Amino acid sequence: MTTQSLSIVVLSTDLDNFNEIRAALSTDSRVKLLSGGNDVEQLREEVVRIKPSAAIISLGANADQAIKLIERLSTECPKTAVISAAQETSADLILQSLRAGAREFLRLPIDAGELGPVLDRISEFCAGQIQAAKKTGRMAAVFSCKGGCGTSFLATNLAASLPARTVLVDLNFEAGDLPQFLGLRTKYSIADMVARHGNLDDRLISVFVTPYSTNLDLIAAPKEVDPVDKIEPEHVFEVLQRLRECYDFVVLDPPHTFDPITLTALDQSDHIVLVLTLDLPAIRSAQRALQIFERVGYPRAKVRLVVNRWSKQIDFGLEQVEKTLGEPVLATLPSDYQTVVDSINIGAPLVKSNSRSKIAREIERVAQALSEGVSPKIGAKPKRPWSFFLKRPAAEKKE
Ligand SMILES: Nc1ncnc2c1ncn2[C@@H]1O[C@H](COP(=O)(O)OP(=O)(O)OP(=O)(O)O)[C@@H](O)[C@H]1O
Ligand SMILES: [Mg+2]
Repeated sequence: MTTQSLSIVVLSTDLDNFNEIRAALSTDSRVKLLSGGNDVEQLREEVVRIKPSAAIISLGANADQAIKLIERLSTECPKTAVISAAQETSADLILQSLRAGAREFLRLPIDAGELGPVLDRISEFCAGQIQAAKKTGRMAAVFSCKGGCGTSFLATNLAASLPARTVLVDLNFEAGDLPQFLGLRTKYSIADMVARHGNLDDRLISVFVTPYSTNLDLIAAPKEVDPVDKIEPEHVFEVLQRLRECYDFVVLDPPHTFDPITLTALDQSDHIVLVLTLDLPAIRSAQRALQIFERVGYPRAKVRLVVNRWSKQIDFGLEQVEKTLGEPVLATLPSDYQTVVDSINIGAPLVKSNSRSKIAREIERVAQALSEGVSPKIGAKPKRPWSFFLKRPAAEKKE
């Protein structure tokens, strides 16, 4: 038997049946009876409003009306499991209620041996609903062991070109500069989120992010050096996990080190975009990063190589680099200092301000490769808990 609590609403036009159901439910510690009554329309409104785990509908004398209610609830509240209940156990009636959308049937008077397994199955159904709601978004870290390779530029542009709800997170706690890349002024930072770890709900997350566009939000690095000391890897892990539940995509810009927070973030990421330029120190540092990734057990497919600031004049050929690193290069961003610096200075991602440029097209290629199979979440925006509604009278729905 699972221990998940089950909120239940009961409809019964017959008072004896209602009392019988209520008494049976009171024997199961998982059950919280939220409300009950004999008014079909009022009960329907209540179920739509509070979305309980289950609604028990007693078929009683007016079975047709009850069957219609089951039909409506199944379409209007698919996350609420409907249980039909009746004294009459004709196959016809049971079938009719199941066809209308009931998940279970309870015979009245309720047999304790039957109720337990029915509630177990409802509990499993509800756990499945929670799991589905917590579908996690994909996470990509844009990383380089060596500074100045263009990771912040690529992370920003990648985040801006992903075709889904994305949050860009600056993990450079000591020198974060992503607000400039997006021309944003930020009020909160990841330090504020970490300070609320354990209590980070959707509403708080929506307060701490800085919106850039309908599809892109930013979480800045702390402005002050002070709060950094208090940031622990497990707190960052938790914040990132919560972000994955709210967004289709989380793009990270970590520092160029293997400190515990960066390692945690890399572990957690589905993809690591390893950025390098075609000079010996950068190629060596990419080689070192790949060795470390192998040692910590990352699958090869997790890492995608991107060459930045490429130009024909560079001595190292791409094939030579692929051979040295043992990995194919996913995209090659040409060197175009003026274009890149202009986009950074005006705070507008190049993929938006100059989408036809070669750099933008290569970044689009990275975005496409990383978003393969991602389907945007529906209703990913923060939702109100139902306790919010319980505190208010039925008619008052305004905020
Ligand atoms: N494709 C490119 N062509 C020319 N210049 C580029 C290109 N990509 C980035 N740059 C320049 O390189 C500089 C460093 O870029 P960026 O800040 O993104 O690198 P980083 O790896 O995040 O550096 P940091 O070590 O400061 O975190 C910037 O001045 C940017 O204009
Ligand atoms: Mg940077």
